[in-house]
Amino acid sequence: MEQLMRDFFLFLSKNKTLTKLAKQYGLRFGASRFVAGETIDEAVRVIRQLNEKGLAVTVDYLGEFVDNEREANEMARHCLEAIEAISREKLNSQLSLKMTSMGLDISDDLVMRNMRRILEAAKQRGVFVTIDMEDYSRCQKTLDIFKRLKTEYDNVGTVLQAYLYRTEKDIDDLKSYRPNLRLVKGAYKESPEVAFPDKKDVDENFKKIIKQHLLNGNYTAVATHDDAIIEYTKQLVKEYNIPNSQFEFQMLYGIRPERQIELAREGYTMRVYVPYGTDWYGYFMRRLAERPANVAFVLKGMIRK
Ligand code: FDA
Repeated sequence: MEQLMRDFFLFLSKNKTLTKLAKQYGLRFGASRFVAGETIDEAVRVIRQLNEKGLAVTVDYLGEFVDNEREANEMARHCLEAIEAISREKLNSQLSLKMTSMGLDISDDLVMRNMRRILEAAKQRGVFVTIDMEDYSRCQKTLDIFKRLKTEYDNVGTVLQAYLYRTEKDIDDLKSYRPNLRLVKGAYKESPEVAFPDKKDVDENFKKIIKQHLLNGNYTAVATHDDAIIEYTKQLVKEYNIPNSQFEFQMLYGIRPERQIELAREGYTMRVYVPYGTDWYGYFMRRLAERPANVAFVLKGMIRK
C-alpha cells in the first residue's frame, strides 16, 4: 500500500498541467507546511526565524519543467535575487538550485552561462551554492557540469543519492575535486536497473557512502530525517575523530523541526532546506510520496478549507 501511494504521488509530481494550475492558485492543501512562501520576502522572514533558533539554511527557488531560454534566465534571476537578499539581510544561508531550471535540458551554453552568473555573484557575497541532484537521466550530465564548475569556483557543491548503484564509484571519481557533497537517500522513481529497489539496501548504501566520503577527508552534509542514519554518523565521527567542522546534518523545512533544534543544541551544524516560489507543486508531491503520514495531514487541511 505504502509503495502504491509513493508511486502515485511521484506520478502526480510529473504532471505538467497540474504544475501549471497549482502556480495560478497559490500555496494550497497544506503545502505551506513544506514551502516557506511564494516570494523572497516571505522566504527571508522564515530564514531569519530559523537562524534565530540556531539553524543554518539553504534556500531554494522552486522551478520544474523549465524548457525554454526565457524561463531558465528568469529562474537564474530569482537565484541572483536570493543571493542578494542573503547578503543584504546578513542571513546564515546558502543557496540550492536545480540544474534543469538553469537550462540543463536546453543547451550546455545556457546552463553554463546561468551557473557562472550565479556562482560569480555568490562568490562575491560569500554564499555557497549546492546543485541538487535530479532523476537518473540527468545524473551524469549534472556531475560533468559540476566538475567543470568546481575547477573555476570553490563555492559550489552537489548531491549524491544513496539509492543509485553508481554512487560509490561517483564518490571515488570526485575525490580529487575535494567536493563538498550533500548525501541523500534519493527522491525520484528509478528503475531497479539503476537503483536499489529495497529500502534496507538504500539505508546500507547510505551508511557506506557517508563513511567513504568522510574518510576521504571531504566535507559531508548528511541530509536525512532518519535517526538511525544520524546516530550512525555521530558514532562514525567519534570513532574516527572527525571534527564537527567536516560535516553537518540537513533536513527539509517543516519536517521534524524539534529534532532540528535538538541537533543544533547538541553542537552540530544543522542546516534546513527552505524552498519558496510559486512552482511548489512537484516538490510538495515528492514530500507526500516520502511519507503517508503527510497525506493524512494534507487531507485534514483540505477538509478545514
Ligand atoms: P526516510 O524517508 O526513509 O525516513 C526515515 C525515517 O525518518 C522515518 O522512518 C521516520 O522515522 C523519520 N521521518 C521521516 N519523515 C518524517 C516526518 N515527517 N516526521 C517524523 N519523522 C520522519 N533528494 C534528491 O533526490 N535530490 C536532492 O538534491 C535532494 N536534496 C535534499 C536536501 C535535503 C536537505 C534533504 C533532507 C533531502 C533531500 N533530498 C534530495 C530528499 C531525499 O533524497 C529523501 O527523499 C528524503 O530526505 C527522505 O528520506 P530520509 O533520509 O529522510 O529517510
